[in-house]
Formats: sequence, structure tokens, C-alpha cells
Amino acid sequence: MIELGVNIDHVATVRQARRTYEPDPAWAAAEAQLAGADCITIHLREDRRHVQDHDLTRVAGVCHVPLNLEMAATDAMVAIALQAKPRMCTLVPEGRQEVTTEGGLDVAGQLARLTEIVGKLKAGGILVSMFIDARPEQVDASAKAGAGACEIHTGPYAHLFHEAAGDTSVAALAKELKLVGEAGRQIIKAGMRFNAGHALNYRNVGPIAALSGVWQLHIGHSIVSRAIFVGMREAVREMKRAMAEAAGTT
Ligand code: PXP
Repeated sequence: MIELGVNIDHVATVRQARRTYEPDPAWAAAEAQLAGADCITIHLREDRRHVQDHDLTRVAGVCHVPLNLEMAATDAMVAIALQAKPRMCTLVPEGRQEVTTEGGLDVAGQLARLTEIVGKLKAGGILVSMFIDARPEQVDASAKAGAGACEIHTGPYAHLFHEAAGDTSVAALAKELKLVGEAGRQIIKAGMRFNAGHALNYRNVGPIAALSGVWQLHIGHSIVSRAIFVGMREAVREMKRAMAEAAGTT
């Protein structure tokens, strides 16, 4: 059964717009779980633009499903993760100027350093996932680094889906979908878990959820956006339904 990791960063984004105490990401985590979220994700960015350190403690405290901490591969973040002990850490690249994560982590280009970081997190009992582009050399390098999972960056797919108005027979979109599927097969063959995420929404999630062997999809912006109008529980339920229908598990 394909799983949904709900990223609640943007609940914190709204709160930080006023630097106040509401809306509370811990409440969002509870609501998402009540609707069947299989995992809760937060990204503690180095610039603390949305999620704050205290959110990590509070959200971890209300999580009855696994917590996935997205983080930059830095010593400071490793120390925080080893203290918080989430079930999984997803290593992502971070740029100060970016609006959101813009590309996958270049694991192949910094293998020695990332192997060391993966080793420290694993020694703390944490499953490590690499957020990477759908490239064979990045999957290979992730396996070499000792990662237990890879999350394939679906941003390029989402962009092409929008351009093609959802017509998966359009060559560029079909090609990207094939690349994501091939990366998934390579990940599973290497003994890792296959995750995907970034810029997935209610319209474009189907073809990704239908790929064989996907363990988890990590989705944030679209769910939080919908939750503004229909509430978090309904937004999570609708996404779970869309994924299950596409995966043929309804
Ligand atoms: N996966 C990773 C690694 C991310 O960095 C993000 C954004 O924080 C997401 C998934 C969720 O992306 P979106 O908010 O576009 O659904």
C-alpha cells in the first residue's frame, strides 16, 4: 500500500508571516494523522524561515506515525537529528535564495562527506533518505553512501505535466515519467526504499502513484493549500484517495 508523508512546513510559513503562535504545526500534524497520514514531514531549514526548533520537539511529541526530518547535510543538523531521533532523515540541498528546494542532492559529487553523515545518522538508528534527481549515477552514489531510501525529485515531472496539461503522451512528459520509473527500479534493485516528492498535487499525483514499487510520496504545498478551504483532514483524505485510486489499491 502506497504511503503518504504529509509535509506541514507551510502551516509554519503562515504562522511566521506574523511571528505568532498560530496556526500551530503540531495541530496540523495531529489533524493529518487523524485523516490517515502515514508519515509527517518537516523541513528544519538552516535559515529557519518556517519550521522552528521548538516545532521539531512539539511535532515529534504528537507524532504517532513516523516523523521524517528533511535537513541539509551539515554537522549542526546531524546533531539536532540525533537528539530528536526522527524515524527518517531526508537529506536535501539548501540554498538561501531559493523559494523551495530546487534540485536534488549531488550525492555523487560529495560521496565521502555524505557517507560520513549517513553513517552518523544510521548509528543513531535513523533511516536515511537521499533527495535526488532521477539520474542513475545519483542512485548508485546513494547506495554507496549507505542510504536506506531515495526520494526522487518530481519537480521536473510536475512542471512538464503542467505544460502538457496532463497529457502523458506528450513526449517530454512521457520521457520524464520514464526516468522517474527507471530510477525507482534501480533504487529497489539496490535494496533501498523508493520515495518520490516535490510539487506533486491532486492532478499530477496519479502517474507517480501508479509507478511500481513506490513506498512513500511526500507532499506539502498542495495539501496545505487545499486545507485552507476544506480543512486538513479532508485535504489529506482526498490525496490518499487519489493515490490509492492511481495505485489500484482502493
Ligand atoms: N520532498 C522534499 C525533499 C522537499 O524538500 C519538499 C519541499 O519541502 C517536498 C518533498 C514537498 O514538496 P511540495 O511542498 O512541493 O509538495
